[in-house]
Amino acid sequence: MSEPDILDPALAEAGCKRVEWALQEMPVLRELQQRFSRKRPLQGVRLSGCLHITTETANLARTLKAAGADMVLCASNPLSTQDDVAAALVERYEIPVFAIRGASTELYYQHINTALDHRPVITMDDGADLVSEIHKSRPDLIGDMLGGTEETTTGVIRLRAMAKEGALRFPVIAVNDAMTKHLFDNRYGTGQSTLDGVIRATNILLAGKTFTVVGYGWCGRGIAMRAKGHGASVVVTEVDPLRALEAAMDGFRVMPLLEAAALSDFIVTATGDKHVVDSIHLEVMKDGCVLANSGHFNVEINIPALEAMAVSRQRPRESVDEYRLADGRRLCLLAEGRLVNLAAAEGHPSAVMDMSFANQVLCAVYLATRSEALENRVHDVPEDIDREVARLKLAAMHMDIDELTAEQVRYLSSWQEGT
Ligand SMILES: NC(=O)c1ccc[n+]([C@@H]2O[C@H](COP(=O)([O-])OP(=O)(O)OC[C@H]3O[C@@H](n4cnc5c(N)ncnc54)[C@H](O)[C@@H]3O)[C@@H](O)[C@H]2O)c1
Repeated sequence: MSEPDILDPALAEAGCKRVEWALQEMPVLRELQQRFSRKRPLQGVRLSGCLHITTETANLARTLKAAGADMVLCASNPLSTQDDVAAALVERYEIPVFAIRGASTELYYQHINTALDHRPVITMDDGADLVSEIHKSRPDLIGDMLGGTEETTTGVIRLRAMAKEGALRFPVIAVNDAMTKHLFDNRYGTGQSTLDGVIRATNILLAGKTFTVVGYGWCGRGIAMRAKGHGASVVVTEVDPLRALEAAMDGFRVMPLLEAAALSDFIVTATGDKHVVDSIHLEVMKDGCVLANSGHFNVEINIPALEAMAVSRQRPRESVDEYRLADGRRLCLLAEGRLVNLAAAEGHPSAVMDMSFANQVLCAVYLATRSEALENRVHDVPEDIDREVARLKLAAMHMDIDELTAEQVRYLSSWQEGT
């Protein structure tokens, strides 16, 4: 196995402090760590994770290791790696990591392939890069695979496309689709951390500004809700009539992006789609408009088009590229169009990742301990796992709920009783 590839082992102490801080907000993961360090259901299971290397991921990796997994990690985005966390994982928690913030595309894929040299029997992806790389260039690994898990919407879309073509050669569980994942992580996590990223990058006041959210899915809903909380006038653009209607009834202005682009001070994409902000929109934007993306890939804003229109570019702040156009307007792209919440801030707050990653741990245990192999397709997270995560989170928040009485159970299952 190759030596870990990280920026600087001397950052380990600082990383370790932040990882421990995050753990305080991750009670469900702590509970699973305790439970599985006794039972060791993943004893000797080779697991490769391609995830954002953040403090929360470090706690996921520690939990999997405590459960017995023999695991390695690489990054799922070249700009999301927290180098101090990578150092802590290698130096303090003895988990090999291949990830450096700002890695070139070549190094990024080299790291993915090194993580695959581990010969995993379980993959844990955020964006389906491991699964895709195995199918494209490492098919020799397929025979031993128990399965994979997938963390995000875009990864699930890619995997379903593979399954539809009959190309998916091992089972994958869509962790993203668990209720205890997307209802909280995509909405409240992306909502808070995207605003955090935009604010840290620019330090521009949002109150009184026009803030456009492109896409009113789980992430878009959260971003719009939090931008409104900052006093911005929020516009939503959509291609789905149901989502557009929901946005309108949630109190947001809905209009085509071409109209919104001319009014906006901020435009944030969260669609999982390509070139949703394109040349025609760039043509009409106001001077100083801030552009950011919170969707998985850096293709939502047409950056090549922006570069072609620009006569110069400067970097006034760490995560801001200011493009000057021939007509004198300036357009400010944050974090090179990559996930702004991870590249310009620290990603989701630990308390939501607690639930997402509890699903990851329970799904890995499910894959490793099943007596029968799953079919080669995309599977939902079993309902009992989803409910278990919700139950553990509520208990950690010291909240009880009511139970149906026997009379109510009978009433809800009968059709004869009416007025
Ligand atoms: N930043 C993060 O940390 C983070 C966290 C979770 C998910 N994601 C990513 O964010 C993206 C969105 O995830 P989601 O869960 O909200 O997905 P979703 O499917 O719930 O929502 C996407 C929405 O975008 C809309 N859309 C598609 N093309 C559009 C266009 N051209 N114009 C306007 N709207 C358009 C769709 O109609 C849909 O309503 C995905 O790429 C996902 O992987 C990022």
